[in-house]
Amino acid sequence: MTLYDRIQETTQFLQTKTTIQPSIGIILGSGLGGLEQLVENAESIAYNEIPHFPQSTVEGHASKLIFGVLAGKNVVMMAGRFHYYEGYSQDEVTFPIRIMKALGAELLIVSNAAGGMHPSYKVGDIVLIQDQINLHPEHPLRGRNDERLGPRFPDMSEPFDLRILALAKSIAAAQGLDVKTGVYAGLQGPTFETRAEYEWLRRIGADLVGMSTVSEVIVAIHGGMKVFGASIVTDLGIREEQNKITHDEVLEAANAAAPRLAALVKELVGQL
Ligand code: HPA
Repeated sequence: MTLYDRIQETTQFLQTKTTIQPSIGIILGSGLGGLEQLVENAESIAYNEIPHFPQSTVEGHASKLIFGVLAGKNVVMMAGRFHYYEGYSQDEVTFPIRIMKALGAELLIVSNAAGGMHPSYKVGDIVLIQDQINLHPEHPLRGRNDERLGPRFPDMSEPFDLRILALAKSIAAAQGLDVKTGVYAGLQGPTFETRAEYEWLRRIGADLVGMSTVSEVIVAIHGGMKVFGASIVTDLGIREEQNKITHDEVLEAANAAAPRLAALVKELVGQL
């Protein structure tokens, strides 16, 4: 079955389960989990009930789609995403983005926990993503292109919508929230980076590094969606001379900053 046919089947299935037609898709990475509590009329569907959906395997990530209303807008949220390092193909990692688009979402909001490399970053900072560097070994659009899903050679000159980014900055300022902006580099993981790798990433222009997001963003752009993204800085890469990075530390820092990012995203959604 072609990707296009699988998308149709899954979309039709979901439309029998909910009457909500989302205009925005949101990926609740480590850091945006708090949004789940802010959604009204929430209806959840477990990934394992959804045809063609992969299952999530990572600790600390849930596994369901949530339809609901956030700040007056219909949204579909992924609680739990699929990472390439878990063994999924790039098609599987990005399949939910195709579904969001097919359900009617015109905007994708992505969030993640990331290592921070810009010298001004501190643990717990919220960083709005202004651009990305894709360092995954496999591209999500590799293979025959289906023109019904998007163009063969998508333009990537502005993957993160600069107007929405500016709006988010002004909302943050009004909320008294200190946010930064930065470039996110996506690698496959699952190892955190060596000191030499953090240094190399910094030199190639990355401010943030993580193991998700870039493929999802590429597929959203391929499908003609707009994208807004934010990271929570959970560790400082090369500058943590004495410290080793652990998954627990990453989750702890992300959870601590999550309510601030959730409040920002809710207000942003309301003002769009
Ligand atoms: N590197 C890669 N992924 C991450 C990091 C990091 O330092 N922190 C959180 N996710």
